[in-house]
Amino acid sequence: MTVDGAGPVESPVEAAFEQEVARGEPILEVRDLVKHFPLTKGVLFKKQVGAVKAVDGVSFDLMQGETLGIVGESGCGKSTLAKVLMNLEPATGGSVRYKGEEISRLSGAGLKAVRRNIQMVFQDPYTSLNPRMTVGDIIGEPFEIHPEVAPKGDRRKAVQDLLDVVGLNPEYINRYPHQFSGGQRQRIGIARGLALKPEVIICDEPVSALDVSVQAQVINLLEQLQSEFNLSYMFIAHDLSIVRHISDRVGVMYLGRLVEIGSDREIYDHATHPYTQALLSAVPVPDPTARESRDRIVLTGDVPSPANPPSGCRFRTRCWKARERCAVEVPLLAVPGWLSGPAAHESACHFAAERDQAEPDQAERDQAESGPAEQAEPGQAEPGQAGNGQAERGGPETG
Ligand SMILES: Nc1ncnc2c1ncn2[C@@H]1O[C@H](COP(=O)(O)OP(=O)(O)OP(=O)(O)O)[C@@H](O)[C@H]1O
Ligand code: SF4
Ligand SMILES: [Mg+2]
Repeated sequence: MTVDGAGPVESPVEAAFEQEVARGEPILEVRDLVKHFPLTKGVLFKKQVGAVKAVDGVSFDLMQGETLGIVGESGCGKSTLAKVLMNLEPATGGSVRYKGEEISRLSGAGLKAVRRNIQMVFQDPYTSLNPRMTVGDIIGEPFEIHPEVAPKGDRRKAVQDLLDVVGLNPEYINRYPHQFSGGQRQRIGIARGLALKPEVIICDEPVSALDVSVQAQVINLLEQLQSEFNLSYMFIAHDLSIVRHISDRVGVMYLGRLVEIGSDREIYDHATHPYTQALLSAVPVPDPTARESRDRIVLTGDVPSPANPPSGCRFRTRCWKARERCAVEVPLLAVPGWLSGPAAHESACHFAAERDQAEPDQAERDQAESGPAEQAEPGQAEPGQAGNGQAERGGPETG
């Protein structure tokens, strides 16, 4: 089976998407992405009384052939981000470009081509597969919408090839999902994700529901498929060790926003955002001596509601470093000018510093700043501002 050849090209728009993007160039460019779910009151006459700000100004690039891990506590907006990127949920605002084309401006063949090229693997292999369909029908279903990838007469063979690629016996094509183990079901989900020969696969907690031993097999399979078909992955997970293993870069989300993003080494060994440092300090350590000697940060307080996030820095209600400035000024995702080496990566904190590093004093920060720090209304920041001396890459606070 080969997933490398693109199917027959239907239109000039589709042809444009088939063009090669050199490895290392952005395949997805996400800017200030916002997804708010309205909160309504009343039975007959529904009135909007607020909104759950599930994703609230997220910006990042996904590079060709890379794996970008996304981590963060439950409810921080990871799945919503994935669904908006997949077009399963309409965005409230912001922009997503696929190979330079704004997705929201596409329709017809262009939109269909993008949808084909971005696929998703879901968390729960037990509920994401229709129990009444055979594995052959599940994996081959996308061909109904995109017959150009596998014309009717070739479909059985195409599905068997996909089963083979994910390490399942091609003769299982007529079996039903309940006849497979959890790990095998996730392989079926991956085969379905691969059916349309996509370039980007968004994996939302693809191994969280699996046993540890099976997790490793599925991760290995994903890595092998990535190098074979030059796939780009966005890999969402709770488990920071798994994310480190598979990711080239890692983004950390808190309450609908990215708070830190960098290479796996920058994030795991040189985190500068207090929230990332707290998450990392809670990662289980197998060595009892190392476990005893490490300095764990225990976060106090509950995660605030995404319907009413704190003003300024959203993490301030749980941050041990919080000061007055944190309540009034939104920290933008940017490289702090006072940091150097691997610590100099994007971090949305006014006082970003590694754990064992002395915090920058006012003079250091002033020196790094290129202009006067902007004052935002509580919960407000101007789009495009980065007056805190940071090279900006962030979104507007919309709360
Ligand atoms: N369809 C919806 N309508 C209203 N609110 C929603 C909807 N989907 C998600 N939310 C809310 O948006 C926020 C983010 O949810 P999301 O599922 O994206 O979080 P997550 O980071 O994927 O969490 P988990 O790690 O538990 O999967 C949550 O507060 C959730 O309740
Ligand atoms: S900006 Fe302030 S509250 Fe937010 S993480 Fe940094 S120190 Fe903590
Ligand atoms: Mg989720």
